[in-house]
Amino acid sequence: MTVAVLHGGISSERSVSLSSGNAIAKALREVGYHVVPVDAGPDLVTTIHALRDAKPDVVFNALHGPLGEDGAIQGVLEWLGLTYTHCDIRASALAMDKEASRRIFAAAGLPIAQGMVVDMAQLAEAHPLPTPYVVKPIAEGSSVGVEIVRPGSNKRASIAANWAFGTHALVEEFIPGRELTVGVLGERALTVTDIVAASKTGDFYDFDAKYSAGGSTHHLPADIHPEIFQQALAYAEVAHRALGCRGATRTDFRYDDTQGDGPGRLTILEVNTQPGMTPTSLLPEQAAYCGISYPALCDWIVQEALA
Ligand code: DAL
Ligand code: MG
Repeated sequence: MTVAVLHGGISSERSVSLSSGNAIAKALREVGYHVVPVDAGPDLVTTIHALRDAKPDVVFNALHGPLGEDGAIQGVLEWLGLTYTHCDIRASALAMDKEASRRIFAAAGLPIAQGMVVDMAQLAEAHPLPTPYVVKPIAEGSSVGVEIVRPGSNKRASIAANWAFGTHALVEEFIPGRELTVGVLGERALTVTDIVAASKTGDFYDFDAKYSAGGSTHHLPADIHPEIFQQALAYAEVAHRALGCRGATRTDFRYDDTQGDGPGRLTILEVNTQPGMTPTSLLPEQAAYCGISYPALCDWIVQEALA
């Protein structure tokens, strides 16, 4: 059986995708698949030819970020009549658009952060929310472009002036506390990881913290209030279903445990429909904890796409 591993891409997460793709290709070979790596470069026609020449039974989509995770490449693969892993066009587009997914989460009864979409002129003029708040691109991954505006900060105008992610941004209240994440495989949540960032540039789980050696520490299963642990598992499953996802996803949360007594407050941030598959990534780590080796995880993703 032939698997084309589609990786690279032209988003700001290209390096992450190359790392994911290399690890996936190696693992799938170990399991016995014939693997053809396809680098999705800037020329779509070349990529399409490479995909056709590979004559794959399945395309393993290892792309991250815009055009790889937002329904665009999924549309191309549908057009070519190829079977591919992870989410379809619709679920990918909905999950990547943080504004659309916030509405869907709210409608499904999931707790979202207080927030709004603002245009850059609005942000340049005044604080859209009381500080501290977070400014995020509406459709990026790996914390690319994410900024925290703290009380007394004068970053607001320069964020607005230098914004490279379209005309609008999502602004959300900054939630203190912890960052949790839950992988879902085939509609079942795996476990909860508590991520402690040790970033050089900031104090949140930014791009550096995500991909530098020692940039963050993962605690799994998370040592948190059992009620929150169960909630995180349940919410990840609800979010996966509400967006119409299939295969493997990973849902990120903020958990405010800073308010003294009680279990605290859990808030959903987003569902990642193309979760990182690098050697230090969270989903493979959770799968391993649940007894699913990295090659077995890749094999499961391929078989799920074929089912
Ligand atoms: N966007 C990165 C790849 C992740 O969610 O793991
Ligand atoms: Mg993401």
